[in-house]
Amino acid sequence: MALREIRVQGDPILEKACRPVEKMTARMETLIQDMLETMEDAEGVGLAAPQVGILRKIAVINVDGENSYVFINPEIIEQEGEQTGDEGCLSVPGKVGTVTRPEKVKVRALNIHMEPFEMEAEGLLARACCHEFDHLNGMLYTSKVTGPLRTVTYETEEEAEQEG
Ligand code: NI
Repeated sequence: MALREIRVQGDPILEKACRPVEKMTARMETLIQDMLETMEDAEGVGLAAPQVGILRKIAVINVDGENSYVFINPEIIEQEGEQTGDEGCLSVPGKVGTVTRPEKVKVRALNIHMEPFEMEAEGLLARACCHEFDHLNGMLYTSKVTGPLRTVTYETEEEAEQEG
């Protein structure tokens, strides 16, 4: 396993649509393990393959530090409700912006053994699914932000803490 370099906004690969994975190969398995390791190292809640320069429909998510999910060729097949909150991205370092997403989603994808599964997600996990799967279609959250993209600074974090 190895850490992969995370591409940042401005890199054209982040704006390209990914191709589906047709079969699991040793190379693809290594990529997935590297993505999990890279996400953890960067303290992200999710990572999509194009963020490490690979145009394949693969995303990994871990919103609680405990449960890692791997999604291959994912699609959102149902969505419900709405949530509005701040979002950031490892490919847009130091920035956050407000994005409205569904409160709940139902996802259909393949697991690492290329077996289909469905999963329901809500709250932060639903947000992470929407954000990561958008990456697979070449879309960054910055195109969905309401209001300004804000720079994360020590001061604003401190203010946020004071506001509770
Ligand atoms: Ni992202």
